[in-house]
Amino acid sequence: MTARIFFKLILSVFLILAAAMTAVDIFGARIAETNFVENLTREIAGKARLIALDLEGKTPAPVGELAHAAACRVTLIARDGRVLLDSEADPAHMENHRNRPEVVDALAGRQGSDVRKSGTTGVRLLYIAVPARAGALRLAVPLAEIERHVMETRRKNLMGAGLAFLPAIAIAAFFARRISRRLASIIAYAGELARGNFLAKAPEGEKGELGVLSSQLKDTAEHLQKAVEQLRREHTELERLERVRKDFVINVSHELRTPLASIQGYTETLMDGALEDDVNNMRFLGIIRHNAERLARLTADLMTLSRIELKSQDFQMASYALADLLNNALDTVRPIAERKGILLLEAAGVGGMTVHADSEAVHQILSNLLDNAMKYTPEGGSITVGATVRGAGAPGASVIDRRVEISVADTGAGIPAEELPRLFERFYRVDKARSRELGGTGLGLAIVKHLVLSHGGEVRVESEFGRGSTFYFTLPLEVSPTVYQSVMVT
Ligand SMILES: Nc1ncnc2c1ncn2[C@@H]1O[C@H](COP(=O)(O)OP(=O)(O)OP(=O)(O)O)[C@@H](O)[C@H]1O
Ligand SMILES: [Mg+2]
Repeated sequence: MTARIFFKLILSVFLILAAAMTAVDIFGARIAETNFVENLTREIAGKARLIALDLEGKTPAPVGELAHAAACRVTLIARDGRVLLDSEADPAHMENHRNRPEVVDALAGRQGSDVRKSGTTGVRLLYIAVPARAGALRLAVPLAEIERHVMETRRKNLMGAGLAFLPAIAIAAFFARRISRRLASIIAYAGELARGNFLAKAPEGEKGELGVLSSQLKDTAEHLQKAVEQLRREHTELERLERVRKDFVINVSHELRTPLASIQGYTETLMDGALEDDVNNMRFLGIIRHNAERLARLTADLMTLSRIELKSQDFQMASYALADLLNNALDTVRPIAERKGILLLEAAGVGGMTVHADSEAVHQILSNLLDNAMKYTPEGGSITVGATVRGAGAPGASVIDRRVEISVADTGAGIPAEELPRLFERFYRVDKARSRELGGTGLGLAIVKHLVLSHGGEVRVESEFGRGSTFYFTLPLEVSPTVYQSVMVT
């Protein structure tokens, strides 16, 4: 491929030089001939005038001698065109010369000249005629001499051009080879890109158009590499989502099957006669009701999750005093806490903050977290709710990151570190049996996470196995100017 480019470049240089040489030859020959003819014309015209003077004298020399001395053919022509004297032929047998172009001029009183083939010898001749007393005196010389000079000039011209030709070809070959080598490395690079190796090393140090080409190829490779990486990431994410979807379907069917099987089993037992069994019938009905309630909770939680995920949940965003939202949630769990002997505490610093949120959603988030804390904290433990301002931004800044991080900390069972990363996944439970026993569906934290995300916030958890857990979530904070000052100080 590059060899072909090399030969094409060389061939084109060769053709250009050949064309130049042909032009030099043609025009050089023409110029040389014109120059020689002009010089010869001047020389012959001078001789013609001298011979005319001699012939007009009293004792003219014989025409043959004059012709020999001038090395020309000499012809004297009368005004009517008749040939009076000729150094080479008998005038009696010569035709009338009145119409010869050079004779026409001379008879009109001017010097005349013409180049043509002689009718008698077939040789190209230069004719010069000057006015003479008798009419016109004409000299003729063969142009063979001039033609020899022209050939000599052409030969020298061609030799000179040929000598210039060789270094030109050598220089052209040098540059053609350099260009074809540079092209070869760019072609090799493009080949690597075509094979999908976008990390291949681009040819370096290129300048000019080839430099632009290789840097553009390099840019293209970088863009393609980024696009491929993006696609790979998206593909991995799609695979992950597909796995999540499949797991979810399996989990949902599993979660539904267990209570449904139980309801079906006990209903059949009752219908098969256990209804009459006064000892067990109420217990069986209780189990059926318990499972029906579980199904209702499960479907309600699934509905909540899908509403949030499909963004069809209508959030009524408004400003609320954070303390009110926390107290409402705490009030709902207070009776159970008292019954279980668990201390409910509110950390200092919660007052004065106003959040921008949907009160129902915040209530559900807090209820789920408090419900968990309550379930996994033994008697005598405590649950503490707190709030801290995060990333308040610079004073006077037009856009400030106004967030409050709310925490629900308990002194309960804690969660092993390896379980923490998956805790917010749907149906993920550390101890499945214990969770079911406590009436859990494993959807509580997933709902918390999605509600918080819908508010533009984040969730996280810190836990020490055996010592307790703290769940955190952030909400957008509305900062009044006075509070803003104190926020900035803390
Ligand atoms: N405060 C906590 N202390 C210890 N473990 C917890 C705590 N909160 C949650 N967990 C663990 O995380 C799991 C997931 O919690 P999640 O709230 O999603 O489900 P659940 O409580 O089992 O059921 P649900 O909340 O739907 O009734 C729980 O099963 C439990 O193992
Ligand atoms: Mg829960």
